[in-house]
Amino acid sequence: MTIRVIGLGGTYRPHSSTELALRIALDAAKSLGADIELFGAEALDLPMYRPPQAGAEHGVKAKHLVEAIRGAHGVIIGSPGYHGVISGLVKNSLDYLEELRDDTNPYLDGRAVGCIATGAGWQATTTTMNGLRTIVHALRGWPTPLGVGINTTEVTFAADGTCSSPAVTAQLRMVGEQVMYFAKRGLTAPTA
Ligand SMILES: Cc1cc2nc3c(=O)[nH]c(=O)nc-3n(C[C@H](O)[C@H](O)[C@H](O)COP(=O)(O)O)c2cc1C
Repeated sequence: MTIRVIGLGGTYRPHSSTELALRIALDAAKSLGADIELFGAEALDLPMYRPPQAGAEHGVKAKHLVEAIRGAHGVIIGSPGYHGVISGLVKNSLDYLEELRDDTNPYLDGRAVGCIATGAGWQATTTTMNGLRTIVHALRGWPTPLGVGINTTEVTFAADGTCSSPAVTAQLRMVGEQVMYFAKRGLTAPTA
């Protein structure tokens, strides 16, 4: 069985460090055999989520995201710290997972979820990581033991995706590997 791992996150900034960090983690999962797909800022540029009671008809991009997560065995989320918490872009995307509420495995149930937080300082990387993990728990996901906080004033990413810190690169790869570790042991049971 092919394991599917979805990456979600990043910012609109050209060469978004958050997205490039996410790519390193995803590539590690790929090197262990995963089918990967990355939903970066443009793919997450969705209207503000409206719940079904509001009579919302979601567009093609939103449906693609929801179906990808529905069929995923693992997820890796990357968010910048914006004013101390996850960005609106990433939060709005996660709000769309409400569409999975009635699944046999609702929301992120049974999926390993890696979390990556960037910030222009240490404080926001920590608070953003805490926020991400709180959301993953609320969505019944399994945050991986290792999460990676990256202070982008100290650790940088080249346009080709190379990270200036071998230690951070190794941590990012480990997040992808831990998602695969859990997925391969059958913690995941997507309904699609
Ligand atoms: C609207 C906005 C709010 C931000 N708020 C914070 C913050 O509260 N703390 C912090 O350390 N960095 C903050 N930053 C900086 C970003 O978190 C940081 O530059 C991050 O690495 C950007 O990721 P990117 O390279 O993927 O765009 C903020 C940046 C923006 C644009």
